[in-house]
Amino acid sequence: MFGLLFSCLDLMCENWNLKYLYKMEFVTTGDGSKTLFNAEIGECYHSKHGAVQESRHVFIKTGLDHYVQTTGATDVGILEVGFGTGLNFLQTADFLSDKSVQVDYVGIEGFPLPLSTIAATGYDATVHPTVWASYLNAYEQALTGNVRINEHLKLHIDHTLLMNFQSDRLFDVVYFDAFAAVHQPEMWNDAALAHVAQFVKSGGVFVTYAITGNLKRSMKALGFSIEKAPGAPGKREMLRATKL
Ligand SMILES: C[S@@+](CC[C@H](N)C(=O)[O-])C[C@H]1O[C@@H](n2cnc3c(N)ncnc32)[C@H](O)[C@@H]1O
Repeated sequence: MFGLLFSCLDLMCENWNLKYLYKMEFVTTGDGSKTLFNAEIGECYHSKHGAVQESRHVFIKTGLDHYVQTTGATDVGILEVGFGTGLNFLQTADFLSDKSVQVDYVGIEGFPLPLSTIAATGYDATVHPTVWASYLNAYEQALTGNVRINEHLKLHIDHTLLMNFQSDRLFDVVYFDAFAAVHQPEMWNDAALAHVAQFVKSGGVFVTYAITGNLKRSMKALGFSIEKAPGAPGKREMLRATKL
């Protein structure tokens, strides 16, 4: 009976957000923080070894912190591919709290989550209460335009598929947080990576939780230098690529 119900929903929801979103459930990861399992894709939004520790290690420490420390930049544009729950955005906000750095943050998201799902992530436990309150308050507005979250941060979540994303500006740091290539190869092929690469400044960094021979070759061909950085728990290595 449930099979029939899901088939009906499949038909009703074809080409619509719900088809993607209705088969989702929270699971607890190795560091106690939650992630979402998307049964349509067959994968979690974050590492099962620890959602928050992966976010802090891959995107904040190896991406943003590295960029700020090596360049001394005080105005940083961040582009995230796959905004999802906003965990990486929240950890960015937390990182900025004691820094004199301004961030303009653009998240690309093809299938935005409902506010009620974001509110149930439990990520309030990982950031200052004012950051959490501003984020929840601004989330729906951020899906339609640029919103100021606090004195350090502005947010826009561009509700679009990656290949339709356009921008007249270039970014300093790219958080590439697509589902794994085995589940969503179209997010990691040369066309997708080239599409993202055109929005990166010279000297800008692209970080992602994975590293493969294909990814290294593609990024080199797109004009990036490649570093193998230590991976988040559960992964030996990850990629940091810097645009030449
Ligand atoms: C691994 S999850 C990202 C997790 C997210 N960074 C977070 O902290 O919750 C991948 C995200 O990519 C989104 N996505 C999948 N296909 C997409 C596409 N073609 N264009 C834009 N976003 C896409 C999914 O909806 C999902 O939110």
